[in-house]
Amino acid sequence: MSTLLEITALGKAFGGLRAVTDLSLALDGGELLTVIGPNGCGKTTLFNLLTGHLKVSQGDIRLDGRSILGLPPHQIARLGVGRKFQMPSIYAELTVAENIRLARQAAALIPLRYQAEGQGDAWAEQAGGDPYAAFLARLGLSEIAGQRAGTLPHGKKQWLEIAMVLLARPRLILLDEPTAGMTRREKLVAVGLLQDIRSQFGAAIIVIEHDMTFVEALGGRVAAMLNGRLVADGDFARVRQNRQLVEAYLGGAAAGPPAAGHSSDPRPPAPQLSPGDDPSHG
Ligand SMILES: Nc1ncnc2c1ncn2[C@@H]1O[C@H](COP(=O)(O)OP(=O)(O)OP(=O)(O)O)[C@@H](O)[C@H]1O
Ligand SMILES: [Mg+2]
Repeated sequence: MSTLLEITALGKAFGGLRAVTDLSLALDGGELLTVIGPNGCGKTTLFNLLTGHLKVSQGDIRLDGRSILGLPPHQIARLGVGRKFQMPSIYAELTVAENIRLARQAAALIPLRYQAEGQGDAWAEQAGGDPYAAFLARLGLSEIAGQRAGTLPHGKKQWLEIAMVLLARPRLILLDEPTAGMTRREKLVAVGLLQDIRSQFGAAIIVIEHDMTFVEALGGRVAAMLNGRLVADGDFARVRQNRQLVEAYLGGAAAGPPAAGHSSDPRPPAPQLSPGDDPSHG
């Protein structure tokens, strides 16, 4: 696979605050990358720069060798970049099925040449019938297709939004804490699903995640950020030994997140290193 995404010396400042500093990273087509790091270290900001929701202060972002700096979010989306936001953005008043239907219509917006190369239809072929029924079944949404999306538990909302992103067949999928609010069982399903999306849809995926058990189970490459900088990049076994990261994040699980003055979302204390139990599941 060739290089799909190339980030070079990327920087973003909010006034005096440097949220992302001198960050360089390349991602191949179909590659899976997990981004970890403490609250406020710049992970979501990185996504906002990639999708054009924030203006880049320094550096460059290239998709297939072409700079996307200055492009508005809708144009970057049409180049095959799909995103799931940190807080699920679904149509709360519509049913699950109606949300899906809207996403199917939006799917036509990405030209074929910018869509993922793989055929997600494999799911449908396996089911031998309606491709969308198979799609919903694979994501665990069939039984709740008639429910109003706003009434779903957070974990199901996450699945719904992932489904909506997938339907556009983006070649690069950005998932911001997709397992937040999911039960342990759902998280295990999520691991299999993300691996499936990668192999069957052929999409490259960058996933931001705080649950280290999930990160380890997912496998693949891990990039760690601290204070806006990339401090480690490699397989998790190696990354988790990074001294800076252990001191600031992995080793201090009990200490909770640093106060980052972060206003957009209440964050769970991070990270979670133990297998843990889900009170909701036996
Ligand atoms: N639009 C903005 N304006 C000003 N400051 C911002 C803005 N967005 C983010 N920040 C600040 O930039 C820093 C990085 O925030 P970011 O949301 O990228 O962190 P994060 O790594 O995603 O954290 P979390 O794990 O809590 O989601 C924080 O200090 C945050 O307060
Ligand atoms: Mg974030």
